[in-house]
Amino acid sequence: MVIGSGGREHAIVDAISREKDAKVFCAPGNAGIGNQAELVDIKANDILPLLRFVDDRRIDFTVVGPEVPLAAGIVDAFESRGKTVFGPKKLAARLETSKVFAKEFMKRWKIPTAAFQSFTIQQQNDLLDYLKRSSYPRVLKADGLAAGKGVSIVESAKDAEGELDRLFVKKIFGGAGERVVVEEFMTGLEASVFAITDGKDYLVLPPAQDHKRSGDNDTGKNTGGMGAFAPTPFVGDREMAVIKSEVIEKVLEGTAAEGFPFKGCLYCGMMLTPEGPKVVEFNVRFGDPETQAVLQLIDSSVLGLLEASANRSISSYKLSLNGAASVCVIAASKGYPDYHESGKEITGLDVKGENVKVLHSGSTRSDGKVVTSGGRVLGVTGTDPAGSISKAAQTAYGHLRQVRFDGMFYRHDIGKSAIENEAKKGNKL
Ligand code: AMP
Ligand code: GLY
Repeated sequence: MVIGSGGREHAIVDAISREKDAKVFCAPGNAGIGNQAELVDIKANDILPLLRFVDDRRIDFTVVGPEVPLAAGIVDAFESRGKTVFGPKKLAARLETSKVFAKEFMKRWKIPTAAFQSFTIQQQNDLLDYLKRSSYPRVLKADGLAAGKGVSIVESAKDAEGELDRLFVKKIFGGAGERVVVEEFMTGLEASVFAITDGKDYLVLPPAQDHKRSGDNDTGKNTGGMGAFAPTPFVGDREMAVIKSEVIEKVLEGTAAEGFPFKGCLYCGMMLTPEGPKVVEFNVRFGDPETQAVLQLIDSSVLGLLEASANRSISSYKLSLNGAASVCVIAASKGYPDYHESGKEITGLDVKGENVKVLHSGSTRSDGKVVTSGGRVLGVTGTDPAGSISKAAQTAYGHLRQVRFDGMFYRHDIGKSAIENEAKKGNKL
């Protein structure tokens, strides 16, 4: 059973469905997932009802997609009842659920990241002094989970004070905003690196790049992610060696030494700065939409990989990749990420395309039709078996033109940095 209802969960269900005799459930899922798995009408955060369902239906293995149930201790609850489950326990999930915790952990274990200071709501005066003495731009982050919206880049002390007013006075993120991290501003390309680990051994999947802003050329607001491609050519062997030894291995060592070994998918959000790769953030689960691209590149059994993490047998799992490249373009509802429309009929879903997957995020069935039900509605993933990002993007965008719903919008430049890089390399050949 896969828990969650987004594009990431659709990609996981789709990959697991490749297994010949797997019977797949998804709670609660969406309209697209419903074509590949039996939907279970239980919310992702309803831990006890989920546990009861797993008992009743004798489910062998559960994969947790989103962070909220992980933060609430779903893995602790399942494991204490003898269930096999993919994901970290609650204490390890703090690497994502508290920015202050994550930054202090990185400091303790000398993991490369932006220099920072953290402050509580009670230390507001110290914080204001600190902001007056700071250089700009600077980055302000709410401590807790804020659905990808808790980060702002401020250009002046005045800007920062306005932001603090939203966090401390207006409390737009509630308790999640009662502590803040103020960070040095880093520059460089970003990359998402997923390490699948059992707490001791790990495997890295091909690195991906997300596109967080809502508009072309990184304009507009930060979103959950408007598209992704993999593998990103900007994480070469040298960068990957640093990410492994300075980030992933230190997280494994540190979490084990501090008594909460990390098991599941460690998402390392990296910035490739002029001084080398540095951590922007950790997540304790697969990324969305990076997963929709990354899972297309795996030849070996994805179910086997997730089970090897849960069963603590990563060292005997053989990861094999197919050499492809993949691009996922998200189609979103008008108004996303602020508010969004819903209930709009989606057409063109029955069109099939070669090397194309339409993975749903916010869709549901209503009166026999598939309609929108979220900000991010679906992602079209194009794959090029020969490994060209440019061809994969052409495939994705070509297919996206077949799909329609009222108010649909998408970015036109997913993969652009890699495509330009391919063109440069092509010119040199
Ligand atoms: P986070 O939620 O921490 O991943 O931050 C969201 C986005 O804000 C990141 O993907 C970056 O684009 C940007 N960001 C976060 N921290 C920094 C930083 N220290 N310097 C520059 N940009 C940042
Ligand atoms: N794509 C960013 C995330 O999953 O957090």
